[in-house]
Amino acid sequence: MSIGLGLIGTGFMGKAHALAYRAAGAVFGDLPEVHLACLCDTPRDRAEAMARQFGFAGWTEDWRELVESADVDIVSITTPNALHREMAMAAIAAGKHVHCEKPMALSLADAREMEAAAREAGVRTIVGYNYIHNPAFAHASRLIEAGAIGRPVHFRGVVDEDYQADPDLAWTWRAKRSEAGLGTLGDLGCHLVSMAIGLMGPVESLVADTQIIHADRPLADGSGRAKVENEDAASAILRFRTGAQGVLATSRSAWGRKNKLDFEVHGTKGMIAFAQERMNELQLFVNEGDQARQGFRTILTGPQHPPYGAFCPAPGHQLGFGDLKTIEVAGFLNAIACGGAAYPDFTAGLAFEAVIHAIDASARDEQRVHL
Ligand SMILES: NC(=O)c1ccc[n+]([C@@H]2O[C@H](COP(=O)([O-])OP(=O)(O)OC[C@H]3O[C@@H](n4cnc5c(N)ncnc54)[C@H](O)[C@@H]3O)[C@@H](O)[C@H]2O)c1
Repeated sequence: MSIGLGLIGTGFMGKAHALAYRAAGAVFGDLPEVHLACLCDTPRDRAEAMARQFGFAGWTEDWRELVESADVDIVSITTPNALHREMAMAAIAAGKHVHCEKPMALSLADAREMEAAAREAGVRTIVGYNYIHNPAFAHASRLIEAGAIGRPVHFRGVVDEDYQADPDLAWTWRAKRSEAGLGTLGDLGCHLVSMAIGLMGPVESLVADTQIIHADRPLADGSGRAKVENEDAASAILRFRTGAQGVLATSRSAWGRKNKLDFEVHGTKGMIAFAQERMNELQLFVNEGDQARQGFRTILTGPQHPPYGAFCPAPGHQLGFGDLKTIEVAGFLNAIACGGAAYPDFTAGLAFEAVIHAIDASARDEQRVHL
């Protein structure tokens, strides 16, 4: 069985997807073969150059042509947020499987429409929540399920970067709701939510506050200043359906932070801590044995933590960001081959994104929101 890939976009995520679709079969072995059928970007000469670099058979500057191509079975969408809905809806209408970068859409209503359309069409979908494919994350999940830290009672999560910290940075589409949707919540916060839900289960309710730190920014052409319409920072207190509590904080204006995506899960018997910038390890504390000898243990990931062993037979040699995309793609190809759901599909992605929109709504209305 050979599956044709159509990739839209060749930026940060476009390249990550291209590499992952090329690598997945070589890493995992038991996947359907992928034919790199068509690549789309604008202008056309960029599409051609990137198609040659990534090894695609064809290229176009018209994404609709890619979607309609008989050679394309999967449409991979790595364009800016404002284009996801239209591209995904067209791909679903053409009966294609869809790999969409996060966030799915600018608004929850649009994400709902995409989820319903995919479900009704019976196509497979996956959203680019790559961090939950980390073997260290899967191990944290297994430890919690096995009761290693007792009953999980409190999730603490932070996701910070500093790409919007500089007040003199020029205004871009990222600051405009009609083009970017949410701010740090849509860009960073949704990843943290995917981890919180993955470990603690569904969110029942939350109360939140958000902040625009830099109210306006200079226009790149020097003609004046434009308003920042979406949040630079957000904080939320969550109640999970299990009764456990959560605290989330995110900022795109946190000087010095490059990809701080950290969580702790506190349990009645111990705690697990993880930091994305040290993505190959977990910290585990268990309250057992002689208290004088207690302390946090560092667990380095290795072949005992699937699917690490598919990449490397030796522990502690470390996986990287791109490997998480390869695991994501392998899960998607498996779902297509077996006819099951990939994780997180549009239904799971919608549940993550309902939380970021609830945080935004709670802050705006100054009210607790029930999901
Ligand atoms: N999963 C993750 O960890 C992660 C990380 C970064 C970005 N993202 C998401 O990926 C998406 C893209 O972000 P990026 O950082 O790769 O952006 P980028 O600007 O690096 O790349 C976007 C690409 O889309 C292309 N493009 C724009 N309009 C197009 C059109 N009409 N037709 C064809 N191609 C078009 C651009 O030319 C560019 O190649 C965003 O939704 C973002 O939120 C996810």
